[in-house]
Amino acid sequence: MEKQLQVSAIKDGTVIDHIPTKALFKVIKILQLEECSQMITFGNNLDSKAMKTKAIIKIANRFFADEEVNKIALVAPNAKLNTIRDYEVIEKRVVKTPKEIFGIVSCFNPKCITNVENIKTRFEVLSNKPITMKCFHCEKITNENEMTYL
Ligand code: CTP
Ligand code: ZN
Repeated sequence: MEKQLQVSAIKDGTVIDHIPTKALFKVIKILQLEECSQMITFGNNLDSKAMKTKAIIKIANRFFADEEVNKIALVAPNAKLNTIRDYEVIEKRVVKTPKEIFGIVSCFNPKCITNVENIKTRFEVLSNKPITMKCFHCEKITNENEMTYL
């Protein structure tokens, strides 16, 4: 039987594959895709051999810099980026957790200045799996299961 794509192929752009189903809308937010006027198609709860179910996002005519795309590592650590040119996959990249995180997550410490005043959060990433981050402002540690997204 011929293989049928669950989300149509694109001519040029980026395919972000292997996104955990729960992270789909967070990835959309982190990459600010609300503001993107290019064609965007996505699927969620799709079958995946490796993950059982997954989400995928296809963005036409957009190509992301590493720094931009590494921000999604917090919510989609195994995401794979495929660069498509003229229907061909010309490059595959994996996301890499950045050393510093600006915004995206809030500090676990309710007394932290970032939770009291309108100041952007900033963290140093201490470990990757599980994610542990140290607040630049109050030095308190926020870890993976305490993370809330801005
Ligand atoms: N894709 C697309 N449009 C194209 C070419 C590929 O949307 N013109 C998508 C495919 O649907 C797939 C992803 O880009 O989700 C990667 O394509 P490919 O490397 O051909 O698939 P796989 O070998 O299954 O990828 P993986 O490395 O994840 O195993
Ligand atoms: Zn803090």
